[in-house]
Amino acid sequence: MKQAGKNPERGLFISFEGGEGSGKSTQVQKLAESLQEQGFAVTVTREPGGTAGAEALRHILLHARKFHYSPLLEAILFAAARRDHIEQLIAPALAAGQIVLCDRFMDSTRVYQGLAGKVPANMLALLEEIAVAPYRPHISFFLDIAAKTGMARAGGRRNLQEQADRFEKDNLKIQEQRRRAFLKIARKEPERCYIIDADRPAAIIAKDILARLDNKTGIKG
Ligand code: TYD
Repeated sequence: MKQAGKNPERGLFISFEGGEGSGKSTQVQKLAESLQEQGFAVTVTREPGGTAGAEALRHILLHARKFHYSPLLEAILFAAARRDHIEQLIAPALAAGQIVLCDRFMDSTRVYQGLAGKVPANMLALLEEIAVAPYRPHISFFLDIAAKTGMARAGGRRNLQEQADRFEKDNLKIQEQRRRAFLKIARKEPERCYIIDADRPAAIIAKDILARLDNKTGIKG
């Protein structure tokens, strides 16, 4: 099995971020397949969730409107779920030299919980330091799409579900604010973050992501 990082003890941690209907999950799958075909050991996971303990918290977070949690408590729960995910799955996979692909990670907390100062940025940074450091992603792909296009896509998918989760019921304006917040992070951390135009056919996007990954890591050797 090929090692991801140059250091044999360390793998490669890649997160995917974006709004509703940006096609993150499809791209995670496509990249996993390409990397596996090249002989890499890949772990695919998502947030909130990824481990039994974190999935239990996911259930609470996505379906517990009745609890009326404060934005800060919500952020703490996302951070708690993330810590379990790191300890039980991400850190061991990286230590084994694997490539970890995660559908949403810390940038989602910065954007969703931080929007409009709901939770002050310094508190979120503190939580991130406690729960995440030093396991920040090496690379993050931000799948960027106009809120209207993304929500139309998510709407189509939603018909198949019994009930949309609470975070997906948000309106267009909030989606557009989140989009801008993601772009702001990406521009602030250009070493880690890549903005990907997600309003293109999935196969083209997948090629773009692979090319950027190769450019950054020389992963194809
Ligand atoms: P999910 O059904 O996985 O949505 P998506 O397909 O859009 O990723 O639900 C995850 C929801 O949780 C999503 O609306 C974003 C929200 N979320 C946060 O608010 N903060 C976080 O830290 C994370 C990871 C997700």
